[in-house]
Amino acid sequence: MLSSPFLVTLTLFLSLPLLLLLSPHILFSPPDADDLALFRRAAAPHTTSHLSSTPKIAFLFLTNSNLTFSPLWETFFSSSHTHLFNIYIHAHPPIQPPGGPFPRSRFIPSKPTSRASPSLIAAARRLIAAALLHDPLNLYFALLSQHCIPLHSLPFTHNYLFKNPTFPHRSFIEILSHDPNLEARYFARPPMLPEVPFSSFRVGSQFFILTRRHARIVVRDRRLWNKFRLPCLTPEPCYPEEHYFPTLLSMEDPNGSTGFTLTRVNWTGSWDGHPHTYTAPEISPELIHRLRHSNSSYVYLFARKFAPECLQPLMEIAPDVIFRD
Ligand SMILES: *[C@@H]1O[C@H](CO)[C@@H](O)[C@H](O)[C@H]1NC(C)=O
Ligand SMILES: *[C@@H]1O[C@H](CO)[C@@H](O)[C@H](O)[C@H]1NC(C)=O
Ligand SMILES: *[C@@H]1O[C@H](CO)[C@@H](O)[C@H](O)[C@H]1NC(C)=O
Ligand SMILES: *[C@@H]1O[C@H](CO)[C@@H](O)[C@H](O)[C@H]1NC(C)=O
Repeated sequence: MLSSPFLVTLTLFLSLPLLLLLSPHILFSPPDADDLALFRRAAAPHTTSHLSSTPKIAFLFLTNSNLTFSPLWETFFSSSHTHLFNIYIHAHPPIQPPGGPFPRSRFIPSKPTSRASPSLIAAARRLIAAALLHDPLNLYFALLSQHCIPLHSLPFTHNYLFKNPTFPHRSFIEILSHDPNLEARYFARPPMLPEVPFSSFRVGSQFFILTRRHARIVVRDRRLWNKFRLPCLTPEPCYPEEHYFPTLLSMEDPNGSTGFTLTRVNWTGSWDGHPHTYTAPEISPELIHRLRHSNSSYVYLFARKFAPECLQPLMEIAPDVIFRD
């Protein structure tokens, strides 16, 4: 008669090749212990804000090069408004000097990121977790890239988010259930069932503004993250960073988001999945006014993508156009 410890050993031994065959991703990309610890700490219940204090916007910069527009952002974050915001930066590790590129900005522990890979989702989750832990007054979490610019002043942006009666504290993220490429994108991923049936799979904006409640949902999530952190089967058309957040939020809290992003992006004439990148000759007061306007009841607060050479013309129109609301 076979003893049960022997059976267990035999089963383990026999299933090992099967496991290697079926789950190379699971075996070879173990979840990073420091990331897990960070997400766990950020998801734990902690003090909520004092209602009497002014709530803040956490600006989360997800960058993989220098923050070219830091002089523009520095003007945006001018010293008189320090009670309205915090700034967190996730930079590509090799270009991370101590401190941040401008006063009051902080680098958070980061790891390399690359396009169309789960590393961008992980970086956004790290930023959200760091901001949740750092300040209970952070009530909105705005994810931006180094190619983003502000379209309004900080006081306008803060008022728009916190004093707008038409959308009592909802997240601003595009969430689409119909897209010509959605099915191809779903099947470019390792099997998503049973956690994410195709009917729940969404696409949306890579840059967004989340409420604190949704930020907590993100750092608490293990179920979908364990699916989305697996590498794509084919790089085209996969783009996990355009799916994870819209899918998670539409599954967890379908009515908690406006379904609209406040970051304007121009997809006209896009190539290779990149939106139109504005160049210096295109910068004008009229462009800023055009970019602010939307066809919905919302205005745009930020825009992308801008080439580094746009800094000078943007700085020239900043005082009289961008920061004059
Ligand atoms: C970033 O800026 C630093 C200092 O200004 C410079 O030395 C470095 O070459 C820049 N890196 C990139 C990738 O532009
Ligand atoms: C979401 O909104 C729709 C339409 O306004 C409503 O019918 C539905 O009950 C809401 N669902 C939840 C979970 O609040
Ligand atoms: C969007 O980009 C196209 C070029 O691809 C340009 O012609 C158009 O003016 C841009 N639209 C806006 C609103 O800037
Ligand atoms: C608004 O609608 C017009 C006409 O459909 C379209 O050309 C334009 O691109 C839209 N603007 C935005 C910001 O979506």
